[in-house]
Amino acid sequence: MRAINIGLTEEQRQGVINLLNQDLADAYLLLVKTKKYHWDVVGPQFRSLHQLWEEHYQTLTLNIDALAERIRALGGYPVGTLEGFLKIATLKEHAGNVPTATGMVSNLVNDHEQVIRNLRDHVDQSGDQFHDQGTADFLTGLMEQHEEMAWMLRSFIEGEALGPDGRQPAEGAKTPVGV
Ligand SMILES: [Fe+2]
Repeated sequence: MRAINIGLTEEQRQGVINLLNQDLADAYLLLVKTKKYHWDVVGPQFRSLHQLWEEHYQTLTLNIDALAERIRALGGYPVGTLEGFLKIATLKEHAGNVPTATGMVSNLVNDHEQVIRNLRDHVDQSGDQFHDQGTADFLTGLMEQHEEMAWMLRSFIEGEALGPDGRQPAEGAKTPVGV
């Protein structure tokens, strides 16, 4: 196979491919979690949250494709199995319960914030450690999108019994259901 000659060493390319695959896995988990809440949410804010989460999962779907295709552009292969995503994702699933609408929003704020922290670290690693400013720029753009999505979600629960750190305690399960 023809060698890829874009000014990055094999190690540098593999380094960013690994970062991108982890971000891909987290984006996939977040997509599934966002869809599940889009389906399950009830209450007075149903319409708003149902629609907001549709917008968010459409954004996540586009980002997932962009992450996978950037991995290919760098000569790597994206993880493409659910089992593989679960192995390397940093997000955790909340199987077996349906939180209140506020609990759903709170869970997703926490997930977006986790993704933002990961991306901020990956931007630094891509640029400083792996000399790949293209990936650093790409991940910066994704981070900014998650910052906006987190803000939109946070705005739903601001003023609703938030702690001094701006977070709401995790809500307990209301209705146990199948996965
Ligand atoms: Fe839908």
